Amino acid sequence: MSTDISGLRPSHVGIIMDGNGRWAKERGLPRTEGHREGLKAAKRIVKAAKELGIACISFYVFSTENWKRAQEEVNFLMFLIVDHLAQEFDFYRDNNVRVLHSGDLAGLPKNVQAEILKVVSDTAANESITVNLAINYGGKNEILRAVNALIREGSELKADIQEDDIRRHLDNPELPDPDLIIRTSGELRTSNFLLWGSAYSELYFSPKLWPDWEKADLEAAVDEFNRRQRLYGGMR
Ligand code: IPE
Ligand code: IPE
Ligand code: MG
Repeated sequence: MSTDISGLRPSHVGIIMDGNGRWAKERGLPRTEGHREGLKAAKRIVKAAKELGIACISFYVFSTENWKRAQEEVNFLMFLIVDHLAQEFDFYRDNNVRVLHSGDLAGLPKNVQAEILKVVSDTAANESITVNLAINYGGKNEILRAVNALIREGSELKADIQEDDIRRHLDNPELPDPDLIIRTSGELRTSNFLLWGSAYSELYFSPKLWPDWEKADLEAAVDEFNRRQRLYGGMR
């Protein structure tokens, strides 16, 4: 029996980019070099995703739990984010990338907030691919902020909150749920990523460290996704 897989291309892929620190350690380099290489890998994968016809890719850049790391590491990651967003407008323009942000913007340093808002606004009309940057993102935090926003609506708050009430208060409610979530570097967990949206995501775990990721790795993940049968609770 032949199966038409054309409809199975993931339209939204989420990536938990893990392993930057181990990549650097293996080479006797400081962790900061791992993060720099991780950023290069993210740019490669954006281009690859565009070529594969993926409409949206969400990158887990910095979690609400990552503040626990050493202050120098947190400072470097914030620097890298701001520096990248400020310097690489050409990358987004040349690749026609629309940038979105997920996460608690108000909890970020003011200069990081400003760069995020600027790139989101500057790229709003781009339409080849949407790149959603999860920065100061936690899945539980996103749901909490959605519930608090509902409560702030006050008079409209009914005792019987529906799924759609939560959904429309998520960070980017217009994005479809992620079809496929990839985690690199061998850890078998999702670490508070896209908690609501990933309810029925297919999960793909790769042993390869994030800075080593190439287009072929994304292709392998998409091929595997295409072989999955999604049931959503239904029958085979
Ligand atoms: C992922 O790499 C990047 C961030 C979480 C910011 P890690 O820094 O977690 O790398 P490992 O897990 O220490 O190898
Ligand atoms: C998840 O990676 C967060 C990001 C990739 C930004 P971590 O390295 O922080 O996750 P844990 O601590 O291993 O679960
Ligand atoms: Mg890690």
